[in-house]
Amino acid sequence: MNNHKKHPRILVIHGPNLNMLGKREPETYGHTTLEEVNSELVKLGKSMGVAVETFQSNHEGDIIDRIQQAIGACTGLIINPAAYTHTSIAIRDALLLLDIPIIEVHISDISKRESFRHASMITDISTDQVVGRGVRGYSIGLETIAKLIA
Ligand code: DQA
Repeated sequence: MNNHKKHPRILVIHGPNLNMLGKREPETYGHTTLEEVNSELVKLGKSMGVAVETFQSNHEGDIIDRIQQAIGACTGLIINPAAYTHTSIAIRDALLLLDIPIIEVHISDISKRESFRHASMITDISTDQVVGRGVRGYSIGLETIAKLIA
C-alpha cells in the first residue's frame, strides 16, 4: 500500500482547540502558536528529506475525512486528537484503516491531569506516544517517524 519510501510524506493532524495554541491556557500548552509549530515541523521535515503536511480541525468528521485521505498517500501520521483522544471511537476506527506508523502526541501529560484525560482511545493502536513534552513533542514524534520509515 505504501510505496513512498523515496518521497516520504508525513501528515500531522491537530484536533479541536489546537488552533488556539499560544492563547489557550498557556500555563498548560505554552506560548507557541500552531502556525509556529507547523512551520517548525515543515522545516525539520525538509532537513530530513521528508515532506510534512499539517491539518487542524475542530470537527470530528473532518478529521476522519483527512485520515481516510491519507490511505495510500502518506508514509506516516502524527496526531494530537486533543479532546477527541478521550472520546472518539470514530477517529480510532479511521486510524485502523492505515498501515503506516502513527505517533500520538499530547502537549501536556494527560496521565497527570483530570482522570477523564487518562484514557486514550488510540494509544493501543499507535506505534508510539509522546506526552508531556510541550510542543517539542511534535518534533520528537517527527524524528521518531523519520527513523521508522528510513
Ligand atoms: C491535549 C490533551 C487533551 O486532554 C486536551 O483536550 C487537548 C490537548 C494535549 O495536547 O495535551 O485539547 O491533547
